[in-house]
Amino acid sequence: MKHEFLAHSSRDEAADFAARMIAGVLSAAIEESGKASFMVSGGSTPAPVFDRLAQTEMAWSRVSVGLVDERWVSPVDPGSNEQLVRRHLLTGQAGAAGFVPMKTAALTAAAAVADRNLAYGPHCDPIDLILLGMGNDGHTASWFPHAGGLQGAMHAQPGEVVAAIDATGCPVAGDVTERLTLTGPAIIDADAAILLIFGDEKRDVLNAALKSQPDDCPIRFAVDGLGPRLTIIWAP
Ligand code: 6PG
Repeated sequence: MKHEFLAHSSRDEAADFAARMIAGVLSAAIEESGKASFMVSGGSTPAPVFDRLAQTEMAWSRVSVGLVDERWVSPVDPGSNEQLVRRHLLTGQAGAAGFVPMKTAALTAAAAVADRNLAYGPHCDPIDLILLGMGNDGHTASWFPHAGGLQGAMHAQPGEVVAAIDATGCPVAGDVTERLTLTGPAIIDADAAILLIFGDEKRDVLNAALKSQPDDCPIRFAVDGLGPRLTIIWAP
């Protein structure tokens, strides 16, 4: 069994669909267990979905929101995923949701791993819904191809839900190369996952990645591991 690929005619239509799907999956999880964990990616793609969710009525006070990955910068830094989530998702109706930050006062991402494992562990047992993005290099989360710490992150031991990444030399990571990321077990054990990608280039990168080695295109590791629990939402 493999993932579902849903092609939409516009990015607005795709964002509408993704927001409705996310609200439905989280509400079902709350119905079943009284709570839901929702791990979200940063970057430039998900903001329109977050904006829609922020205006969606549901039991947000039962939802714990966390990050799929974080750049090791202050939450007031423009590159912070926490800042993106606080600005676009944790406002309006969704302002009632709990948030588990990844960035801490630790001097380095590596120094924060043990503490963030304790903080994220209960919300990744398993994650109810994860929202993934993908870069044009085939990375997802902060699993940049051949990055420092990538093998340890993708092939972490059960119970190790976060890992530090050194993306030095990874062009798509930009100038923020110190990262904390969810690990392979945390991501591929999620009950449900959405990969949200826009544009022909990313569609082509994904198709090529699914024929490549996971170390060269880590998105493949997530797609293969999630299988039918993954829905890919795409628009031109
Ligand atoms: C990050 C994200 C990352 C993102 C991809 C795609 O910290 O950058 O979590 O994994 O999903 O890089 O980013 P875009 O949506 O900007 O293309």
